[in-house]
Amino acid sequence: MTTRLEELASEAAVCTRCRLSAGRTQVVFADGSPAADLMFIGEGPGYHEDVQGLPFVGAAGQLLNRLLSEIGLRRQDVRITNTVLCRPPGNRDPLPDELEACSPYLLEHVDLVDPKVVCTLGNFATRVILERPVAISKVRGQRFPWRGRMVIPTFHPAAVLRGGGDASRAMAQIRADFATIAEALEQARAAGGEPVIEEQLGLF
Ligand code: URA
Repeated sequence: MTTRLEELASEAAVCTRCRLSAGRTQVVFADGSPAADLMFIGEGPGYHEDVQGLPFVGAAGQLLNRLLSEIGLRRQDVRITNTVLCRPPGNRDPLPDELEACSPYLLEHVDLVDPKVVCTLGNFATRVILERPVAISKVRGQRFPWRGRMVIPTFHPAAVLRGGGDASRAMAQIRADFATIAEALEQARAAGGEPVIEEQLGLF
């Protein structure tokens, strides 16, 4: 039997809701477990993702894999997707109408996977999910209640690589955020499915 998640992926695969459909090789829907407790949302597919049809398979993906292994997880244990499912030309930032056109796929995707913890990677994913013009440098590593689950924003791995990779302060910060994610996941699992919500006050 076809699941709703499979149907959603099939619908997305032929989507023409925005101009990005004209330039894509293929829609990049997701990778990883359809029933993951932890879901990552990046920005949008790049060159390698567009060619292979999978998110985070280039340099940023290698770093994501490494950060996951440092907290004892593998790609197949988590769900990985993006705010836009088609590659923006030349890897430019997604435009507001493109983010809006793709957001119904993203929101239903999250609901169907039903993760306990959602990690937004970078400004775009964090703003789409929290629906506020936050700066990732201000909110990273914090826990936000969202639709009955927990959102933890962190830097986009590509930004960490651009900022000097292993040697950088951002690398230490993203590592600390992944430790927070692991802790939040453990707490949510221990709480029997209900995410442990810590209200964040005075951030905006
Ligand atoms: N950057 C993203 O935001 N997503 C990908 O899938 C790859 C790189």
